[in-house]
Amino acid sequence: MSATTSRDIGAPTVTAYAPGRVNLIGEHTDYNLGYALPIALDLGTTVTFRPADDHGPMISASSDSESGTATIDLGTRPGEVSGWGAYIAGCVWALRGADYEVPAGRMEITSTVPVGSGLSSSAALECAVLLALTAESTLSGHELARIAQRAENDYVGAPTGLLDQLASLFGRADTAMLIDFRSLEVTQVPVDESATILVIDSNSPHRHAAGEYAARRASCEAAAAALGVASLRDVDEDAWRRLPDGTQRRRARHILTENARVLAASVALNDGDVTALGELMDASHVSMRDDFEITTPTIDLIAETARLVGAYGARMTGGGFGGSVIALCASDSADRITVELPDIVSAGGHPTPTVRVVRPGPGAHLL
Ligand code: GLA
Repeated sequence: MSATTSRDIGAPTVTAYAPGRVNLIGEHTDYNLGYALPIALDLGTTVTFRPADDHGPMISASSDSESGTATIDLGTRPGEVSGWGAYIAGCVWALRGADYEVPAGRMEITSTVPVGSGLSSSAALECAVLLALTAESTLSGHELARIAQRAENDYVGAPTGLLDQLASLFGRADTAMLIDFRSLEVTQVPVDESATILVIDSNSPHRHAAGEYAARRASCEAAAAALGVASLRDVDEDAWRRLPDGTQRRRARHILTENARVLAASVALNDGDVTALGELMDASHVSMRDDFEITTPTIDLIAETARLVGAYGARMTGGGFGGSVIALCASDSADRITVELPDIVSAGGHPTPTVRVVRPGPGAHLL
């Protein structure tokens, strides 16, 4: 970055909000350039940033959900900051790498997104931080999403796709987003009130999530290479049959069938066909359990119980190996699930889940 090309994005005190997300359907499809259908949650992270030049070239940040202060040198490099502060440091590093000047100052963070629940608390933090730091610039949602992804991939070290950041930045109240990860086109799909959306947090820690996520991504890339294409988006739905390696066949089958389910789900949602949407969610869960192997016994039990107690459909949502289940239900079933499911799951020797009713909320914005 040179002084002559850098842009000054210094701003007065600014407050930015960015939501977490829950994915209705379309898991691990983003880095395979496929499709997903998330909503922005009505839970989010708020960042208040006060530029200050009285404490050196750094940002100091405090958070209501973390102890201590994170101190980030404006010249930070990957590996220097760990823990929750790494997401902020990654944003600073990625912004400067994209030739944006980042002002020194103090940051206060509050959040209602549960951490470690598969609801993208990290993307909410990244997007709110980036919006606060670029309040006076004209960065597009797509540019912000790519900078946030770079922070997560290359500073924090998680090889994630663009699902979480696009959902947080492009969300709208009462609306889901059909995202095409090849064109990055976002198509709004209305979510009416005919079905209740429950997010059921397993309250079970992600185990080996980071290494397993990277392994799934590597398997998909190897499958695409074996098929002679750059990504699994470039082959027909049955192409997995041509793969000689059994693990790659199953991984690719999940991705290819999941893309088809997302497209069908977006039609079902648009038509208000909750029965069809529920069946697609169930099929997605089975595919994640048997082919992609990213669910856990606790998550499987929660999804199965939600169905037994009356949901139209239920599936694990997010990267996997713990986190949350999303269930679509009529309002009376939602009440029953909220009352009965936690006891049924804990009686099976699992942590007691937390059940929340959610609605699609607004995307990231300045307050
Ligand atoms: C995590 C990642 C996303 C996406 C999902 C799985 O949330 O951050 O990029 O891959 O897992 O769909």
